[in-house]
Amino acid sequence: MSLRQFITARKLLRPFTVVKNTAIYGWTEVAKKFGLHEDLYFNPLHKKLSKPVTVILIGAGHRGSIYAEYAVKSPEEMKLVGVADPNSGRRHKMEKRYKIAPACSFHSWEDVFKKEKFADAVIIATPDQIHTAPCLKALEMGYDVLLEKPIAPTEEECRQILAKAKETGRIVGVCHVLRYTPYFRELKEILDAKMIGEVISVQHLEPIEHVHMSHSYVRGNWRNSKKATPIILAKSCHDTDIIRWLVNDASDNVHCFGNLKWFRNANAPAGSTERCTDGCAVEHTCPYSALQIYFRDRKRLYVFDLPEDRGQWDEIILHGLQTTDYGRCVYRMDNDQPDHLTVNILFKNGVTAAFSMEAFVSYEGRRTRIMGSMGDITGDMESFTLTTFRTGKRTTWSMKTDAHGGGDHPMVKDWLQAVGQQNPDLLSSSIDVSVESHIMAFAAERSRLSRTIEDIRL
Ligand SMILES: NC(=O)c1ccc[n+]([C@@H]2O[C@H](COP(=O)([O-])OP(=O)(O)OC[C@H]3O[C@@H](n4cnc5c(N)ncnc54)[C@H](O)[C@@H]3O)[C@@H](O)[C@H]2O)c1
Repeated sequence: MSLRQFITARKLLRPFTVVKNTAIYGWTEVAKKFGLHEDLYFNPLHKKLSKPVTVILIGAGHRGSIYAEYAVKSPEEMKLVGVADPNSGRRHKMEKRYKIAPACSFHSWEDVFKKEKFADAVIIATPDQIHTAPCLKALEMGYDVLLEKPIAPTEEECRQILAKAKETGRIVGVCHVLRYTPYFRELKEILDAKMIGEVISVQHLEPIEHVHMSHSYVRGNWRNSKKATPIILAKSCHDTDIIRWLVNDASDNVHCFGNLKWFRNANAPAGSTERCTDGCAVEHTCPYSALQIYFRDRKRLYVFDLPEDRGQWDEIILHGLQTTDYGRCVYRMDNDQPDHLTVNILFKNGVTAAFSMEAFVSYEGRRTRIMGSMGDITGDMESFTLTTFRTGKRTTWSMKTDAHGGGDHPMVKDWLQAVGQQNPDLLSSSIDVSVESHIMAFAAERSRLSRTIEDIRL
């Protein structure tokens, strides 16, 4: 039985223990109180797999490593049997950790497919521009796929992958991890159970956090929309996907404004230098000082491939700041991604959504306001409050998750179940439903560039 089936309108009218008109609970208490399933990921169709799904990891970087870890956590469900990555350090780390045979460890994705099919599935966690070719090849060779978002850098390629998945009948999951976070799962159940009546409109904020923006979209791999993908796709396809999922209807039109206002050459402070390590006069007062972020605060260090021996870290990080993009001045890069965007979406059912992506905030974690005919919800990924108009009563849920919202491994689990049972219906973020979020994002980017209102044609 799904969570939704447990929640009835009748149960909603039961009184809470109210303190100053507000009741605050954890999910477990809410679940107990309303007879809901305490396990948010409970799925009656999940079965114990007769054998672990065998997987090849293509791209053993930041995301790939997180997904691979599932094989350690749950070896009865997943076994990593191959890896491909041109970065030999990352590849060797994987070989060692997962006992991968040398014959199944490759320099690049092409080499994987020169060998006869030797696993059930592949995880593709390569840079944005290297998604389409390995995905198409994997499907042709009969592999099921877990594909990092964005699906592909162009709309045409996204449609090509969808068509190939249908033609081959293979399973393709897309890493829209927000669908698997407790926060959005609870929201979805509550909306589907009509706890606030009909959804009328949605406000959704994606606060990137200013240092995260500088790390990924000013200095990092996603700073240039032509070399990676436009930020509305690279960062916000999660958001177009989650808004569409919550609204539960197809989108009709989209409109977007946005530009790169701050991280530009013209805003470089007097006395600043090409690199923070070049004796920059404002290094000690700059919020984007690479020396402060990476060297002194030791943040976001995964990009430096540090060894276990911490004694070597100072030297390696400093060298990285002197030689890689992570040490360059944020005002002197070749970045072109907007640092703020506003997007308006009209859905076929008349619901409107206003979405903002903001770099200049001190916090992360999506912010949600959902306006319904019988109540409203406000939330910030750590808690949300539902107010019922008829009684005025408020109920607040609170939760704690990992820094990525808690959705990564539940997503891998669903995908493994889908592959293990050869049942694509087990996947929430299948390629079929995920393509729409990308088409919305491509349309939004066209709107931003040409100042038009765009139709969304699936
Ligand atoms: N789902 C999410 O929330 C989320 C979050 C961040 C990034 N991403 C996406 O995940 C993907 C990977 O991002 P990341 O942060 O892990 O980047 P990363 O740079 O840490 O990892 C990418 C890896 O791919 C490897 N690679 C490059 N060329 C290759 C090739 N020809 N064959 C095999 N491997 C190759 C690189 O060496 C690197 O190790 C990107 O598409 C990114 O947009 C998704």
